[in-house]
Amino acid sequence: MTEIAFLLNGTPVRVAGHSPTMTLLDWLRETRGLTGTKEGCNEGDCGACTVIVTDPSGSRALNACILFLPQLDGKALRTIEGISGPDGALHPVQQAMIDHHGSQCGFCTPGFVVSMATAHLNSATDHDDQLAGNLCRCTGYAPIIRAAQAAETATIPDWMKTDRDFLLAQIPSGGEAAGRGGAEPPLHGFRPKTTAELARWFMVHPEATLIAGATDVGLWVTKQLRDLTPVAFLSGIPEMQQIDDQGCTLRIGAGVTIAALRRALAPRFPSLGELLRRYASEQIRNAATIGGNIANGSPIGDGPPALIALGATLHLRRGDARRDMPLEDFFLDYRKQDRHPGEFVEAVTIPAQAPNLRCYKLSKRFDQDISAVCGCFNVTLQGGTVTQARIAFGGMAGTPKRARNVEAALIGKPLTPASAAAVAARMADDFTPLSDMRASAAYRLKTAQNMLTRYAHDLNGTPVSVLKVRA
Ligand SMILES: Cc1cc2nc3c(=O)[nH]c(=O)nc-3n(C[C@H](O)[C@H](O)[C@H](O)COP(=O)(O)OP(=O)(O)OC[C@H]3O[C@@H](n4cnc5c(N)ncnc54)[C@H](O)[C@@H]3O)c2cc1C
Ligand code: FES
Ligand code: FES
Repeated sequence: MTEIAFLLNGTPVRVAGHSPTMTLLDWLRETRGLTGTKEGCNEGDCGACTVIVTDPSGSRALNACILFLPQLDGKALRTIEGISGPDGALHPVQQAMIDHHGSQCGFCTPGFVVSMATAHLNSATDHDDQLAGNLCRCTGYAPIIRAAQAAETATIPDWMKTDRDFLLAQIPSGGEAAGRGGAEPPLHGFRPKTTAELARWFMVHPEATLIAGATDVGLWVTKQLRDLTPVAFLSGIPEMQQIDDQGCTLRIGAGVTIAALRRALAPRFPSLGELLRRYASEQIRNAATIGGNIANGSPIGDGPPALIALGATLHLRRGDARRDMPLEDFFLDYRKQDRHPGEFVEAVTIPAQAPNLRCYKLSKRFDQDISAVCGCFNVTLQGGTVTQARIAFGGMAGTPKRARNVEAALIGKPLTPASAAAVAARMADDFTPLSDMRASAAYRLKTAQNMLTRYAHDLNGTPVSVLKVRA
């Protein structure tokens, strides 16, 4: 790995000589003795390894276990050891955890405290969502939430405000001038600054693994122990992280994180905003990108069904050649996508409005769980009659897939709970789902049919709240 530079608990550090897929968690614990950051699951699920990463756009909680060192270049890192003051003064959330008895065995506590300190820094008070990615097995969540609430009004300590100012003023990126200045870009851990640099390098190294948020790729390293080199990190390409409002459409760069997407899209598409609220956890949403969610090609990813229901266009790039396609055409078969060697996802475009879009996620847990079935519905109504329908599901086939028979059956009909129930049987013509640990085939089919009825209730002004179920 070429040299990277970042701020560690207020002190600039330069790091070189490690594999580009060394995780931050391993580096902290094994080379710096910073063992306050715990290893629980090592796959992004438990939050024991939560750290704060700050860049000029803000501070966010991330899981150190699936964060590779080069992703920190030019940023500021704060671990649990940097949460209390230089003189040992407790952070208000630490004091509140003591006052409200928020810790028993204490293993989860550093992760909780770092998540709480990040929320406190960002004045976020949606504590259930902020802490959904932190698991506690002994204390129980009520005292921890009470502690977070108690600290809400406390002043942000001065030492927590310094990272961003210092970053902007002093810390240079240790990144190589790859493709600029004639030097050969490094094979192991390339960090392009533009899509053009990435496009050139990927043409030469089409076998390489692209790493965006590493919320999928991280597990290939920590769980499958795979050697991924050569790799390229996409997190330093600002143009890939833009959402361009083009009037009738929005062009979303592949590097836009799920957290940024949720902030941008929730006001326009509240139901999609709610789906994204239930996408993994705060730590994962802060890292995961929409480009990674699409390119990964998972049949149970939450992004593709929503984007397909919206009628999204995918933008692919290989060298200087670009091609566009309807997103649904990208998914050919289980884990097989229409992407050529050296080609990458540059962006996706969606319409700026879709008042009838609704997204429903069914999973065993409300928070931080992968969908068993994810159904996204978007019809156009004229005079009470369906004139266009786009319905897409995750979890019902080997790919994210449209329910074309159901769509066709809806055209020309009013959309009422009765008409929806009448065409729901066509779902069996569209899908032959699998049974697995998340759900049986019969359950998947039944719930997909029920989602259509739920959609009809929703559009007819009687939305169903899955949080307030009545017998
Ligand atoms: C604890 C946990 C919970 C999760 N929960 C959910 C969930 O609720 N819903 C859900 O949908 N997913 C979930 N995921 C899966 C994961 O977060 C998503 O698939 C995520 O969007 C992947 O994005 P990334 O940026 O992290 O991709 P990465 O891990 O960096 O990459 C994933 C794949 O995409 C490729 N890639 C990345 N960017 C590009 C690009 N621009 N062009 C071409 N190829 C590219 C990579 O090479 C790799 O093959 C979860 C994961 C974890 C660890
Ligand atoms: S160790 Fe569990 S999320 Fe990192
Ligand atoms: S205090 Fe033991 S796991 Fe939370």
